[in-house]
Amino acid sequence: METFKGTSINSGEKHGNCGRGKEVGAALCCAAFFMVSYFALSSSSFHEILLPEQNRTMLFGIDNDDANVVPYEEKLKAVFEKASMPDRTVIITTLNAAWAENNTMIDIFLESFQHGDGTQRLLQHLIIVCLDQKAYDRCLEIHPHCLKVKTGGVDFSGEQALLSHDYIKMIWRRIKFLETVLEMNYSFIFTDADVIWLRDPFPQLRHESKADMQIACDRFNGKPWDIRNKPNAGFTYVRANEKTLTFYKYWYSERRRSSKMADQEVFNAIKYEDTFKSIGMNLRFLDTQYFGGFCGIMFTDMTKAYTMHATCCKGLSAKLNDLRAILNGWKNWRQQRLETSPVSVKAKCHELVEGQYERIRLVFLPAQNKDHESEED
Ligand SMILES: *[C@@H]1O[C@H](CO)[C@@H](O)[C@H](O)[C@H]1NC(C)=O
Ligand SMILES: *[C@@H]1O[C@H](CO)[C@@H](O)[C@H](O)[C@H]1NC(C)=O
Ligand SMILES: *[C@@H]1O[C@H](CO)[C@@H](O)[C@H](O)[C@H]1NC(C)=O
Repeated sequence: METFKGTSINSGEKHGNCGRGKEVGAALCCAAFFMVSYFALSSSSFHEILLPEQNRTMLFGIDNDDANVVPYEEKLKAVFEKASMPDRTVIITTLNAAWAENNTMIDIFLESFQHGDGTQRLLQHLIIVCLDQKAYDRCLEIHPHCLKVKTGGVDFSGEQALLSHDYIKMIWRRIKFLETVLEMNYSFIFTDADVIWLRDPFPQLRHESKADMQIACDRFNGKPWDIRNKPNAGFTYVRANEKTLTFYKYWYSERRRSSKMADQEVFNAIKYEDTFKSIGMNLRFLDTQYFGGFCGIMFTDMTKAYTMHATCCKGLSAKLNDLRAILNGWKNWRQQRLETSPVSVKAKCHELVEGQYERIRLVFLPAQNKDHESEED
């Protein structure tokens, strides 16, 4: 079996999202019925997605033009209704201004869906959750399903330094948002926007019917159910059920452990603990040769890759450079449908010393040459 699992360079770096927001009271559920015609929804499907009627506080609000007309929760539900697959599954990513500029991250992200294998049709199920007005404006130009969350005075528009105060707030905002999604009984793939999608991952993910949550890894030890794997929450598939909802609530509540801990650090800690075990959520770790990242990988077999995440990589421009190179290699290969010699990408994400970079090799094996078809599982 080929080694796709090199040594990890450092802990998984992720673009973040989310943070503390101005708390906004939940909209009344009955208001939903007046919104039905506004959103051209069928009322029969609409009642299923009402939030629980208990007194709950939304952490999210919307402060753009239609906020005065449509309460945030109604907008939220309408966007989900439109984007959902028949089985109540959506794809979610988050976006801030720095990643929303022309020809930057969001463009590469969306472009990857256009050129992936079976991924184009998934775009209609993608919801882009925007953290500032610029990101929201750009989203409306390029994508049908956009949401804007209130940021409560915190500015998420810049490139966030890893583990800065605002970065951590953004990250936790995301977890809270995903908790809300589960509460609405939607299953989801959450994907960071610095993940390029090369193939439709759903058949592979849904195949594991006993997994409640599946998560990508920075380092994968070959055992999908081993909690000692080193996960990366930048790509997760979560089925909406009691266990996953309980888990997300718990995960979010544990942010209080330390103001310096992001979602990933807290996740890494709680997965070993009794409370996590008592929730009974089946957690499956995804093999890096399918759901890859730059952390441990110096070469990758593009005939197997579903997604590639610019992890272990500092800075927008390095991420863009490396993702662009990989996407271009992929596009060329798809066009030609030929065995090509490995493409070597000068990985700006792996700068050795100034101006010197390691290379990531993209290996395009011919389709019939599946010499390691049977994976341990
Ligand atoms: C919601 O709960 C809070 C405290 O739990 C309470 O102070 C408030 O009055 C409640 N609001 C409604 C509308 O029930
Ligand atoms: C992005 O490009 C489009 C045209 O391709 C242009 O209309 C728009 O103003 C540009 N936006 C920014 C933020 O540069
Ligand atoms: C959640 O959605 C699934 C899939 O549509 C459905 O089977 C299930 O009954 C729903 N659960 C609740 C509690 O509404």
